[in-house]
Amino acid sequence: MAKVTVIGAGNVGATCANAILHMKYASEIVLLDIKEGVSEGKAMDMMQTAKLYQFDCRIKGVTNDYKATADSDVVIITSGMPRKPGMTREELIGVNAGIVNNVVSNALQHSPNAIFLIIANPMDPMTYLTLKSTGLPKNRVIGMGGLLDSSRFNYYLSQALNVAAADVEGIVIGGHGDTTMIPLINKATYKCTNVTSLLSKEAADKVVADTMVGGATLTKLLGTSAWYAPGAAAAVMVKSIIMDEKKVFPCCVYLDGEYGQKDLCIGVPAVLGNTGCEKIIELDLNEEEQQLFAKSAAAVKNTNNVLYDMKILKA
Ligand code: APR
Repeated sequence: MAKVTVIGAGNVGATCANAILHMKYASEIVLLDIKEGVSEGKAMDMMQTAKLYQFDCRIKGVTNDYKATADSDVVIITSGMPRKPGMTREELIGVNAGIVNNVVSNALQHSPNAIFLIIANPMDPMTYLTLKSTGLPKNRVIGMGGLLDSSRFNYYLSQALNVAAADVEGIVIGGHGDTTMIPLINKATYKCTNVTSLLSKEAADKVVADTMVGGATLTKLLGTSAWYAPGAAAAVMVKSIIMDEKKVFPCCVYLDGEYGQKDLCIGVPAVLGNTGCEKIIELDLNEEEQQLFAKSAAAVKNTNNVLYDMKILKA
């Protein structure tokens, strides 16, 4: 059975660890934070639900003790500042790049074979930073954003259609930003029927617009960014990796020519299995979707350039 480390025991990290416990595919979880006592307390609280939920997995909380994370199969990075109302994800780059760089290099020393799943924002540049700073093969560095955005897209679609979210199939590709994500409304279906034939143009446009600001809407309501759906999306992706399910999810992965793009990490559908990102699926995008993707990629690359300007990455 597998070992998973979650770095950052805040809202997203703790929720993700809890979701993994409940999904019962790991034998050991290590929850690590920089704040003394927080991960220990949250891990103990979760262990005290073992009898209630009948799981055998052990979860251990540690303060900055990377030795405890040794030989993890997957390391999930949630350490970093969440956004406050009115902030974009991109504005977090200055603070979070240093944190991500530091925790990834510490974790890698003790888990040289791990697959890294990046959640800290701005997620696409943080995934790129992890890949470039570690020199890991591209299959082992994946960002979580597209599955969360897709889950929000399916929520808004199900609300507009008044149907079960499980019966709706829509995906979001592109960057994980309010203006860079691309909910593929023309490819979204409800039980094999294209949703654009079931919704008015106005309603379909509203679903797309609501999806794009889905995270910001929650940040405004909560005063900080969301955690239930981000934690669940990460847990589902890690399950596909650990159980070698080979499920296709929109993931932030390195493109080397796919979708006409090179040298960036951005959201596209990918097969997740034992070796991480096993294959990128190239969707047949129409002209408008291709243009949106190129625009999104340019915006993500612009933010990546901040990492070079800040000398966090060397050109
Ligand atoms: N090492 C370990 N943990 C750290 C470090 C570090 N160097 N720096 C910060 N942390 C921890 C904090 O102590 C905190 O417990 O990361 C945790 C972050 O938790 P929250 O503040 O609750 O933030 P959260 O909502 O979980 O979001 C984390 O995920 O979705 C993204 O935008 C979000 O970038 C943010 C990240």
